[in-house]
Amino acid sequence: MEIVFATHNQNKLIEVKQILPSSFKVLSLNDINCFDEIIEDSNTIEGNSMIKARYVFENYGKACFADDTGLFVNALNGEPGVYSARYAGQTKSAKANMSKLLDKLSGKADKTAYFKTVIAYKTADVERLFTGICKGQIIEKPKGEKGFGYDPIFVPENYTETFAELPPEAKNKISHRGLALKLFTTYLNDSL
Ligand code: IMP
Repeated sequence: MEIVFATHNQNKLIEVKQILPSSFKVLSLNDINCFDEIIEDSNTIEGNSMIKARYVFENYGKACFADDTGLFVNALNGEPGVYSARYAGQTKSAKANMSKLLDKLSGKADKTAYFKTVIAYKTADVERLFTGICKGQIIEKPKGEKGFGYDPIFVPENYTETFAELPPEAKNKISHRGLALKLFTTYLNDSL
């Protein structure tokens, strides 16, 4: 069965192809010639992931899944949340995003935070969400060179290293995205 992953990101596509059952042929947006601007105007990551999955299903007639991720900082009432990519502006600079977050968090005692990934799946018969959460702490200064986004300032629970210091395989095992993908994969396997 063909299934579209609503992304143009080739790295995400490669990772997902390795994980999903081989009986599913995973296509990217490029593969179905979808270069439309999909307006993600929900104020939740659940809403935005479903907007993408529904858009592809409704306009291209193919089963589709889409992911959306945010970092939620408890002392900032869940900021940056759905705005994680563009927290410090439309340039989507990871460095500027981290600086803004560290400024807003400075002086607050509670440094707890969590990443949440939601995968939305849409077919003719099914509309479902799969959620992965990874809890941790924000540290005061970025550490580590690996990963992307907020990885250098996020230390997952029960670890001393940031996500940017952990090898990718170690991060994938415990990450929000890894966990959401695991739930989705189990669901697909059970549906075969
Ligand atoms: P997306 O929904 O996967 O595009 O993620 C939205 C934004 O959340 C990204 O631009 C990053 O700023 C942040 N983000 C998502 N996943 C991660 C992660 O695993 N580590 C650090 N930051 C992340």
